[in-house]
Amino acid sequence: MKLPNITILESDNKILREISKEVIFPLTKEEKQMIEDMITYLTMSQIEVEREKYNLRAGIGMSSVQVGILKRIFVIVEELDDGNFKNYVVINPKIKSMSEEMIYVGEGEGCLSINRPTEGIVPRHARVTVNAYDIEGNPYSLRVREDISICFQHEIDHLNGILFTDHIDSKNPFKNSDKMREI
Ligand code: NI
Repeated sequence: MKLPNITILESDNKILREISKEVIFPLTKEEKQMIEDMITYLTMSQIEVEREKYNLRAGIGMSSVQVGILKRIFVIVEELDDGNFKNYVVINPKIKSMSEEMIYVGEGEGCLSINRPTEGIVPRHARVTVNAYDIEGNPYSLRVREDISICFQHEIDHLNGILFTDHIDSKNPFKNSDKMREI
């Protein structure tokens, strides 16, 4: 595999704090290429030999704002139990409903734009239903749960200029852990 030529913005970059704009269909050739590049990058980052060869950090999700494009687009690459990868291309997403049950990642969330370990609880809904569009502009509705639900909420935050660290109470990073389920 060839590593796509993309640069991921670091958390001190102000672009990450801007609100991304709705996408107009049909997508341009450049937008489609960017989506393909983000998927390739995330896939390679989850394959050990590629990760080591290119010195990558493993990532599951990426929003276009992280490569400097302020459009409401993100991708998620999920490694399945059989070793294959499932890709999600999510454009102009809207959260339609969310579970009352809250969860958090016990070892802490990560982000390709944040190059430091960050402790603390990021409360997320255990399940969310999202309406969005695929790469060809077809609408779809999807219910996601557990870690993929967390990914969706993390990436939708990116589209609104929010980083996961914003959700952590710096004075009490493990606040309310007893009210949520750890995954
Ligand atoms: Ni992130």
